[in-house]
Amino acid sequence: MALSDTFLWGGALAANQAEGGWGEDGRGWVVTDVLRRHPNADNDDFAALHAVTLESIAEAKADPDPTYFPKRRGIDFVHRYREDLALFAEMGFSVLRVSILWSRLYPTGEELEPNEAGVAYYLDLFEEMQRLGIQPLVTLSHFDAPLELAVTRNGWLDRATIGLFERFARTCFEKFGHLVKMWISFNEIDGMERHPFTSGGIIEETVTETSISQACYTALHHQFVAGASVTRLLRELHPDAQMGCMITMLTTYPRTCHPDDVAATRAKERLLYMCSDVQAGGSYSPIVLRQLAEMGVTVPFEEGDAELLRENTADFVSFSYYMSMTESVDPDAERTPGNTVLGVKNPYLGSSEWGWQIDPIGLRISLLDLYDRYRKPLFIVENGLGMRDTVDADGRIRDDYRVEYFRAHFEQMIQAVDEGVDLMGYTSWGPIDLVSSSTSQMSKRYGFIHVDLDDLGNGTLERRRKDSFHWYRQVIESNGSNL
Ligand code: BG6
Repeated sequence: MALSDTFLWGGALAANQAEGGWGEDGRGWVVTDVLRRHPNADNDDFAALHAVTLESIAEAKADPDPTYFPKRRGIDFVHRYREDLALFAEMGFSVLRVSILWSRLYPTGEELEPNEAGVAYYLDLFEEMQRLGIQPLVTLSHFDAPLELAVTRNGWLDRATIGLFERFARTCFEKFGHLVKMWISFNEIDGMERHPFTSGGIIEETVTETSISQACYTALHHQFVAGASVTRLLRELHPDAQMGCMITMLTTYPRTCHPDDVAATRAKERLLYMCSDVQAGGSYSPIVLRQLAEMGVTVPFEEGDAELLRENTADFVSFSYYMSMTESVDPDAERTPGNTVLGVKNPYLGSSEWGWQIDPIGLRISLLDLYDRYRKPLFIVENGLGMRDTVDADGRIRDDYRVEYFRAHFEQMIQAVDEGVDLMGYTSWGPIDLVSSSTSQMSKRYGFIHVDLDDLGNGTLERRRKDSFHWYRQVIESNGSNL
């Protein structure tokens, strides 16, 4: 068996990590503009990397030097997208996942009319993609709440943020809907409790709810309601378009077959699936609601919420997959970092320099589990290996480790399709190097295309094809049969 002819191949970017253009063309401040570079490869305290206070925000805003705030410059995609799109087209991309920076259209989130320069930029981006035969897959919210909303409203904690987001989404659908047919409401919507500031614009010290957990689940509920509401709007305005939900697939195995480890793993899994259960299934699981109640958390349902969620579920389920974890009740079990989590180490797996465990079979397990659970088309919208790359004296970047990672994952992906999974497509994370979300390092590279830029912003920004570039082109050309 093989992948269908309609299978989409490409890559995925996020505006806050790629665009740059900070302070230009009316673009407003974004939460990630005030996050400093974290120089260590050690990613085991993710919450601390993204912790902010009103004071740290004020200090960052007063600092006009972007050196230590890499997301302000990204990889200058906003000025170089034509060149970058041409390289993606050369690899044969049929899809590119990008996100629209909310504050590029609505600088503080509160304006009544969009910033025309922002609209013009995205229009040109999507038109150029259309010209190159690359379909856009567009995320409305990828860790980029306007900073002003965080400071004045505590972001998504305020139910009124739903209305502001609806206005932003309406603008996106009205201005770009003729070019964009695939949308994702929120990137890794389940990240709220792990990083409330980037996911929800929540500044912990100003939270007045009973607990930070309560604040996070309140904000998350508001995102669910907003997601359903803009799904309804999309269907009214563009019935031919599709809306997907998106989760972090943190596939978790029990560390041992001890029933306590298995029970702990299942409890973790229920929380893992909580968001897609709501967004793709249409309601909260009663067991999860009970689990939350035991944590002292109440979901702030208002009249009409349950119907809205039930009637406006996602058309497809998308997810990121980088690594898997194990779970154990043993407090001494050895731990390792992963994508925004610290979990228990799996003795059978190797890991990257950042500690993320490499597990291609976990991708197949994830695909089968998700499809079994939702029976909706799936889309792998992030997957990849963050590594330091070296440019050799002859100018080549011999990234065979990256090829090896992708090859093993593609084999498992194709096997899952052979086993019956309905998979729409695959977009690798960061097909061109970009700023890391967790550590803001440039040196943690995912791309098939190298960008000459270091952690402190030195470099020519020149783009260079890595060895993996040529390999991925051949994979796409053969629709996955030549790995
Ligand atoms: C995902 C995010 O969690 O992982 C991306 O959606 C992020 O924004 C990616 O960049 C890889 O994580 P990191 O921390 O290595 O950039």
